[in-house]
Amino acid sequence: MIIFWRNGLAAVANILTLAVTGSGDRPATRESSGDMTTIRRFCCNDLLRFASVNLDHLTETFNMSFYMTYLARWPDYFHVAEAPGNHIMGYIMGKVEGQGESWHGHVTAVTVAPEYRRQRLAKKLMNLLENISDKIDKAYFVDLFVRASNTPAIKMYEKLGYVIYRRVLRYYSGEEDGLDMRKALSRDVEKKSINPLKHPVTPDELEYD
Ligand SMILES: CC(C)(COP(=O)(O)OP(=O)(O)OC[C@H]1O[C@@H](n2cnc3c(N)ncnc32)[C@H](O)[C@@H]1OP(=O)(O)O)[C@@H](O)C(=O)NCCC(=O)NCCS
Repeated sequence: MIIFWRNGLAAVANILTLAVTGSGDRPATRESSGDMTTIRRFCCNDLLRFASVNLDHLTETFNMSFYMTYLARWPDYFHVAEAPGNHIMGYIMGKVEGQGESWHGHVTAVTVAPEYRRQRLAKKLMNLLENISDKIDKAYFVDLFVRASNTPAIKMYEKLGYVIYRRVLRYYSGEEDGLDMRKALSRDVEKKSINPLKHPVTPDELEYD
């Protein structure tokens, strides 16, 4: 019931936002830029159409119930970018969680199809999620995990202002290390959330994954 109520609210908010795109304190959730890219909320049907984007070996693919949970609980954090012809260019999926000063936005997945890369699309999707965490949910920071070998993504996150907060040993399938990267939001005035840890941690030491 709560889920449906939140979804209902989200749908109303989305319609209102469409009517006033770019104004008010809610960030635009549908954006059509000069290059004909449309960014909008991800919906159930997109799950049947995004396989080509997920073919990338650095893009995690989860089971359907995982995606459905995100859609139901954190619809503000799930956006897709489309080219004319409804071709999916990329998407971002995330959530907000934590207690007290650990209240934070989390990027669970961000991916852009190879043919649409280096056009600042991931940057737009990241900015959208960060704005929602910052302005709507008043979170202290945004974080994410990235494979230690994924240099392009690490470079992108650094360009967007993320720092390596800690290394998580064998985070990926018990093999590759993950980097927990963070960006402080306006509520974290002293930027305490991004003070890097001196030592690596193991996955069982993580408060949230
Ligand atoms: C990482 C990824 C999402 C970047 O998407 P993108 O739309 O090409 O990124 P953007 O165009 O928004 O890049 C923004 C900035 O990040 C940096 N960047 C992006 N890709 C980069 C690369 N391959 N090498 C170096 N820097 C890169 C650049 O500084 C870029 O700004 P610039 O083009 O003005 O120099 C995309 O390469 C991808 O989908 N990779 C596979 C999935 C993945 O690794 N996801 C992250 C998992 S944690």
